[in-house]
Amino acid sequence: MRIAIPKEIKNNENRVALTPAGAKEFVKNGHEVFVQKSAGEGSGFMDEAYETAGAKILPSIEATYETGEMVMKVKEPISSEYELIREDQLLFTYFHFASYEPLTRAMVKSKAVCLAYETVEKPDKSLPLLVPMSEVAGRMAVQKGANYLEKPLGGRGILLGGVPGTLPAKVLILGGGIVGTQAAWMASGLGADVIILDVSLPRMRYLSDVMPKNVKTMMSNEYNIRNLIPTADLIIGAVLIPGAKAPHLITKDMLREMVPGTVLVDVAVDQGGCIETCKPTTHEKPTYTIEGVLHYCVANMPGAVPYTSTLALTNATLPYALELAKRGWRDACIRYPELKAGLNIIKGDVVYQAVANTFNLPYVPVSYYLNNN
Ligand SMILES: NC(=O)c1ccc[n+]([C@@H]2O[C@H](COP(=O)([O-])OP(=O)(O)OC[C@H]3O[C@@H](n4cnc5c(N)ncnc54)[C@H](O)[C@@H]3O)[C@@H](O)[C@H]2O)c1
Repeated sequence: MRIAIPKEIKNNENRVALTPAGAKEFVKNGHEVFVQKSAGEGSGFMDEAYETAGAKILPSIEATYETGEMVMKVKEPISSEYELIREDQLLFTYFHFASYEPLTRAMVKSKAVCLAYETVEKPDKSLPLLVPMSEVAGRMAVQKGANYLEKPLGGRGILLGGVPGTLPAKVLILGGGIVGTQAAWMASGLGADVIILDVSLPRMRYLSDVMPKNVKTMMSNEYNIRNLIPTADLIIGAVLIPGAKAPHLITKDMLREMVPGTVLVDVAVDQGGCIETCKPTTHEKPTYTIEGVLHYCVANMPGAVPYTSTLALTNATLPYALELAKRGWRDACIRYPELKAGLNIIKGDVVYQAVANTFNLPYVPVSYYLNNN
């Protein structure tokens, strides 16, 4: 199969969908890889590295889309790319269709096959192509939080781990899933006192088993949260209720109970945030202050560390991409139920119920394509 890797052109996106190591795997398995000139540069992968791995470098985005039977990307195509996408072409990338109608309609019109990273879902409901970005964001949340706790940056001037003779900072983590767990590892590793609040007892049992002694768990409810916030230095929002907006666990009135210079990092901002006063920010202007409390609410945290994020993402996508190239999308989706769940649009039909419902488009069950064609 011919695999094409365009350069990401969305504002501030420096990740790339395939590393030179991934290109080598494709070539080793008898496929051809075409990479748009300088596509990997933002992540530190130069054209020469792809060439050494056996890929060919193409001069333009047009040539790249034109050549690929499967196009692998990171972000959803933007409007200037819509016309480049062909009938029957397989697109494997993050789409987030339900959040943008023009993209959905453009992909329906293109008659391409759209397999979305974010809905690739294993039978146990885990989302293997979202996990790596949650891991990055969880670890980064502590790095950012520790930084913003410094006085010149607006924090209360406390060192996360303290030093002998002083108490370490107190870190509250709302939600003990992927983001929360990674944040807890980082914060505890730096010596902070960490409390993870969750509503799932099995999850808290697991965390109690695996976490070091400076991490405690507590049931998440308003009573406990109100008791804890006056002494917290860093609060990390990491709650997810699948398919729903995040609940506001920290309300506006609670800010007055916090010490000025407390830092809030709401990683759940992409689902509306679990802190009522959270509004999405960017890496250019990541923070703002309300009632003396510093808020960091960047919606694409992994974008700041493209080298790590590219490697983490491609570690997860490559095995699936190799199967898609080997078997073709139809056979690969029959064989792997998680890939089947990633199918959103096939040849002009919306095959993902939630997307069809969101935009009032006709829904065609995916089985129509997997069984009949
Ligand atoms: N900002 C970014 O750049 C970025 C990057 C990656 C992920 N995220 C977001 O981070 C959020 C968390 O993702 P995740 O992968 O850790 O999800 P996850 O499903 O692994 O974990 C969510 C946790 O929240 C818990 N929870 C649910 N309701 C709760 C409540 N009322 N109180 C406390 N805990 C509760 C669940 O039990 C679960 O353990 C998501 O919104 C995700 O989209 C943001």
